[in-house]
Amino acid sequence: MKELQKTPFPESFLWGSASAAYQIEGAWDKDGKSPSIWDQYVRIPGTTYKGTNGDVAVDHYHRWEEDIDLMAEMGLKTYRFSIAWTRIFPNNMDEVNQKGLDFYQGIIDKCVAKGIVPMVTIYHWDLPQYLQDQYLGWEDRRIVADFKKYAETLFKAFGDKVKHWITLNEQNIFTGLGYQLAVHPPKYKNEDKIFYQVNHHAFLAHAEAVLSFADIVENGHIGASFAYTPSYATDARPLNAIAKQDYDDLRSYWWMDVYAYGRYPKAAFKHLEDNGLAPVVEEGDLDLFKKAAQIVDFMGINYYQTAMVEFADKNWVSGEGTMNTTGKKGTSTVTGTPGLFKNPQNPFLSTTDWDWTIDAEGIRYALRDINSRYDLPVVISENGLGAFDKFEDGKIHDQYRISFLQDHLLAVKQAMDEGVDVWAYCTWSFTDLLSWLNGYQKRYGFVYVDQHEEVENPSLNRSKKDSFYWYQEAIATKGMSLYQGNGAVNKISELEVLKASSKEA
Ligand code: BG6
Repeated sequence: MKELQKTPFPESFLWGSASAAYQIEGAWDKDGKSPSIWDQYVRIPGTTYKGTNGDVAVDHYHRWEEDIDLMAEMGLKTYRFSIAWTRIFPNNMDEVNQKGLDFYQGIIDKCVAKGIVPMVTIYHWDLPQYLQDQYLGWEDRRIVADFKKYAETLFKAFGDKVKHWITLNEQNIFTGLGYQLAVHPPKYKNEDKIFYQVNHHAFLAHAEAVLSFADIVENGHIGASFAYTPSYATDARPLNAIAKQDYDDLRSYWWMDVYAYGRYPKAAFKHLEDNGLAPVVEEGDLDLFKKAAQIVDFMGINYYQTAMVEFADKNWVSGEGTMNTTGKKGTSTVTGTPGLFKNPQNPFLSTTDWDWTIDAEGIRYALRDINSRYDLPVVISENGLGAFDKFEDGKIHDQYRISFLQDHLLAVKQAMDEGVDVWAYCTWSFTDLLSWLNGYQKRYGFVYVDQHEEVENPSLNRSKKDSFYWYQEAIATKGMSLYQGNGAVNKISELEVLKASSKEA
């Protein structure tokens, strides 16, 4: 609707970067910490790339001061990190581990002292294993009370200094990969009925935490971080447009509608009821959702890519839905749901080595969609490029990452010019870290960490990549540097392509 204005980002814009406890901390059994479901899962042979695990990760547990010094040197305005439940309540839900609280207090205090706004994710997938053993974790409604207690403990301990809270990271991903695709714990395959019930419990846990937050934390903000993969219909055939609606309802609005409105999308709920897959909703659940939705004051999104949607016949065979966890381009397969939709590759977009589409306009699409549908401000809690990095002349010249982030930031700015209220933009990630299933070779950071799959005793030393200095300049100039040089000049939006082709015609 509007062309990009070459103006600064707002003064209050939170230029950020993000991480998650399991992916960076290491020290998996130190200072009272107990195993999480990930500590156990990675020990099952064949589950992760070359058997990598987060036992040491990038040793942030011992190097957090150095890492925060680097953030301060960069000029970062916000740092999003998660807290490991297993450090806070390692053995049961009755005894708090003071050493766990102290660790995070140190991080928070140092961030605040350096002028970095701490943004805390309460849950980034590392459920205590004892809760999985006791009652199957998210499958049981008891998780709701336990999550509430854990969240309240954090609000009370840190709520004076932490004003930005994220309840759950990517509920759609940890449930989808855990209960449908069998690639995350608890490794269930196609358990759709359980998947929706688990999600219902997660929504309840989120909602209870939000209500507690309102009682405990003054002048704070809270929301969830949703992995939003916006969709485009493959063409103008009405059947494909309906397939897109089904995809949007079942893959996106199912979560975002609950966070923002406190209700499930109607057509999707009906579809699940008709197929015996709808969750059991007890009296009062939807009221709780609604109350929480009134308190949630931003939509958190993790944006990486878009999907293309095409109708899939009920006889369509989806195959195994193989994920590319090796970085060998072209090894992932088409996924979908027979009778509803499938997601073929978009021929207009290039992909990363892990077959994720690269689509900067997609983040603008996502932001505008959220703005229109929910009228909520947005926190972009993750966006980034997973890539192989190699040293040349003793440096990492990651121009590919710079171009990716630059194009996305310019698309964010354009959406802001079009009226979307974006509070924060967090890149994934600050340092390199463990990429769950993909080992250490899929790197995301501004700071290279000497950690690898098959190297014994790596130094774990930190080195700044070219992208570190690029982001530093973007922050210092409030985004004005983005309009010079590569990204801005090269950015060719769909609209410009269309305009050019209509002129030619
Ligand atoms: C998000 C997660 O799904 O994407 C992160 O919140 C994750 O934890 C990131 O690392 C990138 O995914 P991956 O699989 O490439 O590590």
